[in-house]
Amino acid sequence: MPDGTDMVSVLVKDHEEMKQYFRELEGTTDPKARRDIADRLTAEVARHSVAEEMHLYPAARKILPNGDELIDEEIKEHSEAEELLKSWEGMDGDDPQFMPTYQKIRDGLLHHIDEEEEPKLFPEMQAALSREEQEDLGAKITRAKKLAPTRPHPSAPDSPPGDMIVGIPTGIVDRIRDKMSGRSTD
Ligand SMILES: [Fe+2]
Repeated sequence: MPDGTDMVSVLVKDHEEMKQYFRELEGTTDPKARRDIADRLTAEVARHSVAEEMHLYPAARKILPNGDELIDEEIKEHSEAEELLKSWEGMDGDDPQFMPTYQKIRDGLLHHIDEEEEPKLFPEMQAALSREEQEDLGAKITRAKKLAPTRPHPSAPDSPPGDMIVGIPTGIVDRIRDKMSGRSTD
C-alpha cells in the first residue's frame, strides 16, 4: 500500500481500502458481517467521493486540457454509485438483492479506480503539479475525510454522540455528504 501523504498516494490508498472491503465481503456469508462491511465500505466511498469532488476535481478541471469533459463523467459516475449505495443501505445481509447490488457497486468502483489510476487522470495531475502542490492537495483531502465518521451507523461505537438526529432516518451517504460539505453542523 502507498504510504505517502501526497494527493495520489492518499487517493490510491483509499482505492486499496475499497478493494480490501471487497475481499472481506466476498469472504463471508454471515449476514451481520456483510451488513457491517457494507456500512464501512459505503462510508469510505462517500468520504472518498466528496473529498475528490472538493479537492481533486476542481484542480483537474483547471489543469487538464480535457478536464471538464473528464470530470463531468467522473461526477456522473459518482452519483450513479451513490444511488446504488443508497438502495443497498436498507438491505439486510441475507436479502436476495444484497450480493447482486454489491456486484454492481464493486464493478462501478473498479471502473472508477482504473479510470483514475491508469489512463490519464492521476499521471497527468502528477505531471502538471509541483511536489508541493501534490502534498498540499493530499493534506486537504486527508483533512476533508476526517470531518466524516468511518462507521456512521447508530450502533457503531465510534459514532460521536449527536451524530444521529433521532427519528430522521437519513442514510449514510447523505449524512457524510452533508457533514463534509458543511451543510450539517452536528
Ligand atoms: Fe477515486
